[in-house]
Amino acid sequence: MTDANHQDLILDQFTRQATVFSTAAAITDEDALKMIVAAARPAYDDRVLDVACGPGLVVCAFARYVREAIGIDVTPAMLERAAKLAADNGLANVAWHHGDVYSLPYDDGDFTIVTTRFSFHHFLDPAAVLREMVRVCAPGGRIVVVDDYASENPAKAAAFNRLEKLRDPSHSRCLTLCELKGLFGTAGLPEPDSTFYELRGDVRGLLARSFPNPGDDLKIIEMFKASALDDRLGIPIHVDADRIDYAYPVAILAAARPA
Ligand SMILES: C[S@@+](CC[C@H](N)C(=O)[O-])C[C@H]1O[C@@H](n2cnc3c(N)ncnc32)[C@H](O)[C@@H]1O
Repeated sequence: MTDANHQDLILDQFTRQATVFSTAAAITDEDALKMIVAAARPAYDDRVLDVACGPGLVVCAFARYVREAIGIDVTPAMLERAAKLAADNGLANVAWHHGDVYSLPYDDGDFTIVTTRFSFHHFLDPAAVLREMVRVCAPGGRIVVVDDYASENPAKAAAFNRLEKLRDPSHSRCLTLCELKGLFGTAGLPEPDSTFYELRGDVRGLLARSFPNPGDDLKIIEMFKASALDDRLGIPIHVDADRIDYAYPVAILAAARPA
């Protein structure tokens, strides 16, 4: 489902975020990228598609292990960052496509690995995107979905999503881990294998790469501080004088498309 207003928010946010997002330590984290690649169990003959690839970090992480890796994204500024990253790393087996992931411009079964990272919480209909990912994945191929997830406590999940929407107006909804896993079943996939890590940082750094509406940054800081006292956001937060550290839980969910 492509909603014009939501797509405008995506383009606005990710055009502004392109450089700061693609250079943030939490996003370029090599260990996390290695975990994602490992979850897909790549082989030299694999053809990878990364959906909503942004600045191409996941595609470039796969490139040295597979025949070809392609990224698709709707934000041109992100694709420019991706092309630069590939050129800087001398990668010749990657390609970047501009497009909307609700309707992937590929034939059924074109890829043997289909991935996406930190995108589902920006989609109004992640189940529809996962269906497309499954369609373009060959039988026996692997699907890997990586995203941060919300507390199973509905009030905490709602508060976390309010915070994230204030911080990034293109945020749709972080699902809970159960919901994320449930999408796999709905898309005809088996129960995914799960691995976990935390996206850690301090709130000042997070806000430096975010573009909330004017004045909302102060509300965001207050929400983090309040949660350090009562866990209203349902994520680990530590306050030390002026510094607020957070850890967003991230799941790497991987399943093979049934043959
Ligand atoms: C938070 S960034 C993640 C980028 C990348 N996956 C990563 O982890 O480094 C989310 C990306 O989703 C893209 N995006 C959101 N909705 C999209 C859509 N409907 N079609 C294509 N790309 C989309 C945005 O342009 C943005 O680059």
